[in-house]
Amino acid sequence: MYADDTTIVSQEEYLHLVAELMTIRKRGEVPLAYIRTYGCQQNVADSERIKGMLHQAGFCFTDTPDDADFILFNTCAVREHAEDRVFGNVGALKNLKRRHPGILIALCGCMMEQEHVADRIRDSFPFVSLVFGTHCLHEFPALLYRALVDGSRVFVRDNDDRLVHEGIPALRDGRVKGWLPIMYGCDNFCTYCIVPYVRGRERSRKPSVILAEAREMIAMGYKDITLLGQNVNSYGKGLPDRPTFSSLIRQIDAIDGDYWLRFMTSHPKDCTRELIDTIADSRHISLHLHLPFQSGSDRILRLMNRRYTRDKYLDIVNYAKARIPRVSLTSDVIVGFPGETEEDFEDTLSLIREVGFTSLFTFIYSKRRGTPAAKMDDPVTDEEKGARFRRLLEVQEEIAAVRCASMVGTTERVLVEEPSRTAGVLCGRTSGNIIVEFTGSPELIGTFRDVHITSARNWILKGELIEKEG
Ligand code: SAH
Ligand code: SF4
Ligand code: F3S
Repeated sequence: MYADDTTIVSQEEYLHLVAELMTIRKRGEVPLAYIRTYGCQQNVADSERIKGMLHQAGFCFTDTPDDADFILFNTCAVREHAEDRVFGNVGALKNLKRRHPGILIALCGCMMEQEHVADRIRDSFPFVSLVFGTHCLHEFPALLYRALVDGSRVFVRDNDDRLVHEGIPALRDGRVKGWLPIMYGCDNFCTYCIVPYVRGRERSRKPSVILAEAREMIAMGYKDITLLGQNVNSYGKGLPDRPTFSSLIRQIDAIDGDYWLRFMTSHPKDCTRELIDTIADSRHISLHLHLPFQSGSDRILRLMNRRYTRDKYLDIVNYAKARIPRVSLTSDVIVGFPGETEEDFEDTLSLIREVGFTSLFTFIYSKRRGTPAAKMDDPVTDEEKGARFRRLLEVQEEIAAVRCASMVGTTERVLVEEPSRTAGVLCGRTSGNIIVEFTGSPELIGTFRDVHITSARNWILKGELIEKEG
């Protein structure tokens, strides 16, 4: 399951070749790359690896496409809307390429793993020179070199080698919060979801490399580390000795330092009491559990192939509430899955009320070509789905407001993340991932501070910094 390290060594050689080529082309000026990332944190983490490789090849980065020598869109296929945005934004690059013919335009990520998408790019977007899917990330240096020296277009896709490639450097976007992938792919095949088709089968990184990267991030000053995987609870499948996710996070938690550890995403079917106990007994794991339920109706959960029931979900949530008294629960939910009746939808609303989530990521079902749900009867109109979606948002807003209001008067430990839009005001997050705004100076960014919560506006808390004595 692990790739031979020689693959990476030869890729490093390609980075040197790219660097030499760009020095000649730019006559010694620093080449610039513009990277735009769509989709989930997994894509953000992949882009950070791509930036790491480009950095090794001598590139710096720009936020202005017009200044760039290399443009890359890392795409997401999870919903139609996400794909439409990518197509729209790629289309807009046509004029840029006309103005700067020397620019190299590339597309990668989940959309590019779909044959019909790659075909459409080939046929309708001739100014795109390089297209590669999620399985080819480690080959990026060789692909980039080929696209730069070859006049012809380079399209690579569906190279499902099922391997984990280590040794790719990451150039992370943030200095306070950082993503740490622990596994790739998904084996669950929820019937609505494209991810298993575009990300391939589950494969886990070795505990030793994850621990080394976690240690490095903590030493670099990262204060909020999120372990990433589509289903972190099945971490370790296929590795020697089958380490469990709980054992992995216990080992990371043993690293000394002032930091929070988070993870996403946990699949309810594999979320064990052992995992909840591990969170409760840990030193660094945040009091936050993101546990997507998708629907409150057993009938719909069966059709979605989620492999848990409403009762099983509530059981693990209630255990978490009992073991971790201040736990903050968040979730994903889909409205309008094919055949969802008013009664099914009411079940979703009642589950939301019963759990009392801090926040929800809410989605209207989007038909994905090639998934089983795409063939299911879907008689409910878009108007009806839209109306249900708005009802759901209203219910959740009420719940979030009550939850936040209940925190007024408490003191929260807050990780200060960034300046807010208002001058002099800082923005941070609690361990439960709730945003807190308070007045303070920018030197506090990247530190943990105690903040007295004075008011709540919807799902944002406002507070006052408690100055340390002495
Ligand atoms: N692996 C994660 C989720 C990855 S996708 C998990 O299982 O929880 C993120 C979210 O997008 C999903 O939880 C789901 O709520 C939503 N989603 C995925 N496919 C979708 C589709 N076809 N239509 C609408 N929402 C979808
Ligand atoms: Fe998609 Fe289900 Fe896998 Fe999550 S667990 S990525 S929703 S198939
Ligand atoms: Fe999108 Fe791919 Fe993530 S489809 S949600 S970027 S795994």
